[in-house]
Amino acid sequence: MSTAFDVVVIGAGPGGYIAAIRAAQLGLNTACIDEWKNDKGGPALGGTCTNVGCIPSKALLQSSENYEHAGHHFAAHGIGMEGLSLDLARMLGRKDAIVKQNNDGILYLFKKNKVTFFHGRGSFVSAEGGAYRIAVAGDKPESIVARHVVVATGSNPRPLPGAAFDEQSILSNDGALRMASVPKTLGVIGSGVIGLEMGSVWRRLGAKVTVLEALPEFLGAVDTQVAKEAHKAFTKQGLNIELGCGIAEVKSGKGGVSVAYVDAKGGAQTLVVDKLIVSIGRVANTIGLNAQAVGLTLDERGAIGVDDACRTNLPNVWAVGDVVRGPMLAHKAEEEGVAVAESIAGQHGHVDFNLIPWVIYTSPEIAWVGQTEQQLKASGRAYKGGSFPFMANGRARALGDTGGFVKMLADARTDEILGVHIVGPFASELIAEAVVAMAFKASAEDIARICHAHPSLSESTKEAALAVDKRSLNF
Ligand code: FAD
Ligand code: NAI
Repeated sequence: MSTAFDVVVIGAGPGGYIAAIRAAQLGLNTACIDEWKNDKGGPALGGTCTNVGCIPSKALLQSSENYEHAGHHFAAHGIGMEGLSLDLARMLGRKDAIVKQNNDGILYLFKKNKVTFFHGRGSFVSAEGGAYRIAVAGDKPESIVARHVVVATGSNPRPLPGAAFDEQSILSNDGALRMASVPKTLGVIGSGVIGLEMGSVWRRLGAKVTVLEALPEFLGAVDTQVAKEAHKAFTKQGLNIELGCGIAEVKSGKGGVSVAYVDAKGGAQTLVVDKLIVSIGRVANTIGLNAQAVGLTLDERGAIGVDDACRTNLPNVWAVGDVVRGPMLAHKAEEEGVAVAESIAGQHGHVDFNLIPWVIYTSPEIAWVGQTEQQLKASGRAYKGGSFPFMANGRARALGDTGGFVKMLADARTDEILGVHIVGPFASELIAEAVVAMAFKASAEDIARICHAHPSLSESTKEAALAVDKRSLNF
């Protein structure tokens, strides 16, 4: 087997595996190294996203939503559900099978595209004669040489000081995705994306969930109107969200986990729960990379320092995904992976960071792209806005899912769409139209004049566009 490559990618999460495939497609002799192990010790490609992130969380969100629908919503359709039961082991097994399909799928794509795969930890050894030597520590240790290196080593969950993850009582996303029974009481620290998604899963399955959030404001990065609507919906569902909490101490013992905290009014409180999920953000992962061997510099947060084109301080060393600045999202990592592969091949790789959509897969779903109303106000940009409630949409009524709205913000003078914010059914799918529109610099009027199928949720986007010009037809 050759040990000299045009491109070596370290990490096979969405950033790394996509970079490797694109580089191979462009005719570059490419290898990818990944250390993730499945329960048999074999490779499990796809990184955080596939193994303990996007894919398993969405599998459990779907299963738990089905359970909630069967228990609480089918009756309205005239469907009786006596004797409803939960087989959690089977639900978790389904999730694991979906993860494995994705792991195997990436291995297949590597073979199809002639990407050489090494299973083990990759670390820099030296820079020699315009290339980099990389050691692979695994079952079969290797020493390989790369003309270009793409670092895509992802991120790890941030622990609370003094409360290390044991994945039994104090859980990261990993433990939160494989609890063997539904806890009676569940605490969640952090009302961010993981806290809301995983809190929703276990609440739907029967846990009493309390979420403690440090900030006084709920979902501060989200458009304020959307955040308010979502907070109302989650509270109604029974998620107990406490804002403005200062966590003082976490102790775990036989009786569960006890969290001492100061509430928003300054009162000392204690929350005692069977299990605690800590979801207070993630940190870039450079463990074991031996970055110092070649002088690869990190930024003040420990992420690999890169420019807009994902170039590091070293010639021909690139970095993408969670290990660099920017949102920690799989599709952002993928876009950077493609851009880097194309730049290496001499093309013009580019990522438009203003057009990266965000989705929170709760119920209601939350999705947005571009600027929020509070950002536009703060920047002094003159804008106009329109929104349309799902309550007035025929398809949403048929679905029985009428909460939330689509909100569109456009430049006051040119009518160019500046941001779209959705809370409601299938927001994750609806947002794609907004991303396409903004990528083509569409105006709100463009969307308002395009024929949308009836009855469909997407008509709400058209109606929000009409509302920008104060001429909604159905509201
Ligand atoms: P990763 O996916 O973390 O992959 C890095 C890989 O590198 C890993 O396989 C790791 O083992 C390997 N590695 C690290 N160091 C080395 C080394 N030295 N040698 C060899 N291999 C190494 N994002 C979304 O867009 N949508 C979602 O719905 C979503 N849901 C999520 C749910 C959860 C619970 C979590 C935790 C995250 C979620 N994310 C989601 C975020 C998403 O998972 C990450 O943004 C994405 O995985 C980042 O991709 P990456 O390629 O940068 O890194
Ligand atoms: P997050 O950044 O989304 O949320 C962390 C929350 O914890 C914030 O609200 C923060 O204010 C709060 N917090 C921080 N320190 C705290 C403390 N000491 N006490 C109480 N609250 C505290 O991070 P999260 O949820 O851990 O997820 C990490 C990342 O993974 C996300 O930012 C996102 O990039 C990615 N992800 C994406 C998903 C998606 O796209 N649907 C799903 C899940 C994760």
